[in-house]
Amino acid sequence: MLSPLHTSPTAAFPKDFVWGVATSAFQIEGASASDGKGPSIWDTFCQVPGAIADASDGSVACEHYARCAEDLDMIARLGVNAYRFSTSWPRVQPTGSGAWNVKGLDFYERLVDGLLERGIAPYLTLNHWDLPEALQAKGGWANRDTAQHFVDYALGMHARLGDRVASIATHNEPWVMSVLGHESGIFAPGIKHRATAMQVAHHLLLSHGMALRALREAGCKASLGIVLNLSPIEPATGSAADRAKARLEDGRLVRWYMDPLFKGAYPADVLEHLQADRPVVQPGDMDIIQTPMDFLGINYYSRTVASAGEPWDVHKSGLEVTDMDWEVYPQGLTALLLRLHQDYTVPAMFITENGGAFKDPLINGQVHDANRTRYLQTHIEAVRHAMAQGVNMGGYMVWSLMDNFEWASGYAKRFGIVHVDYATQKRTLKDSARWYQSFLAQQAAAHLANAA
Ligand code: FCB
Repeated sequence: MLSPLHTSPTAAFPKDFVWGVATSAFQIEGASASDGKGPSIWDTFCQVPGAIADASDGSVACEHYARCAEDLDMIARLGVNAYRFSTSWPRVQPTGSGAWNVKGLDFYERLVDGLLERGIAPYLTLNHWDLPEALQAKGGWANRDTAQHFVDYALGMHARLGDRVASIATHNEPWVMSVLGHESGIFAPGIKHRATAMQVAHHLLLSHGMALRALREAGCKASLGIVLNLSPIEPATGSAADRAKARLEDGRLVRWYMDPLFKGAYPADVLEHLQADRPVVQPGDMDIIQTPMDFLGINYYSRTVASAGEPWDVHKSGLEVTDMDWEVYPQGLTALLLRLHQDYTVPAMFITENGGAFKDPLINGQVHDANRTRYLQTHIEAVRHAMAQGVNMGGYMVWSLMDNFEWASGYAKRFGIVHVDYATQKRTLKDSARWYQSFLAQQAAAHLANAA
């Protein structure tokens, strides 16, 4: 599977291909109550006993709020041309509506200007899960009014940064906020009610379309889109029951988002399955959701195996498994991209997250994470295979720049290509970061050679 794409100039990606690293506000910033920031639903959720595996929270995280400049230097040293980050809504608008927090806005302005000074394109995500707690108190995403508040937040960020960011994504992974946040309840806000989860999903999609329209009306020049977590769903066996399960899971994970965004309707089979748990949809909503996008962001980690019987045992699959117990399955990325390209009229697609958590200790100042390097190489290769078959890909971003707060897993799972020592906040480039650095340098050299 591995090919020497990082050494052969003929294997170069297009010159304008975007190469980045990704993070999100809550996972790295810390300073969760500093300089006027309001609480988010994740600040609250971390206080629930048993919610976070290591009983940690986001109050310190990677101290990125204080260490932003040195982190930007580190990003620049990697040689990427893009950085995907999110703005924390409660940092800039502490109660989610009304008054703005100037210190919070100033922070993101320093971040964006700092990226531009270093020649790195800012890729902004507005909602990477940290909803202001004050809005949750009024029902959060289950309340339709939150969609209008989100539009106001989007316009506020546009007014301050819209002339300098390359791209704005509305939401990160609506499926996660809906299903993990409101159906299984393992993520904030910890609700376990399927009808609520489906209403949340609808309001997230609706607010996405509303924000796109408002941003365009405001003259926004940044490229606009959304980020979905998608994967191919494979039946555990060829049995009719497993295949039916796979079809339904595909409906809930992939088609529930892709169909309304690109075809203007929810999938009929899922609506039928949901019965009384269907969301309330008002006239005109589906048109708004279908507002054309400039790009589609895809976060890919693994495949999903659907089984009508016993849950799939990843350890029996024979595949390498990461520290999250996710199978390493790069061929699934090619298959997913080809399927999206065939089934929908999609704009340029970006891999906005891809990476792996591995147990990778720091020994004598070094982290030999060969498995992560292999993971990145094979998935970049998988993107290239899709492009060779005609899929329009705009870029690829590694999750994550550095080890960080991995939600309900706390700090125990490390996704970074940079190691963070949480006791000292010292950052150390892992071998995978050094590989990415040299891969990007070779890409750049290949383009120079081709131009000469
Ligand atoms: C995605 C999230 C991201 C990170 C990775 C591992 O679902 O968007 O914040 O936690 O998973």
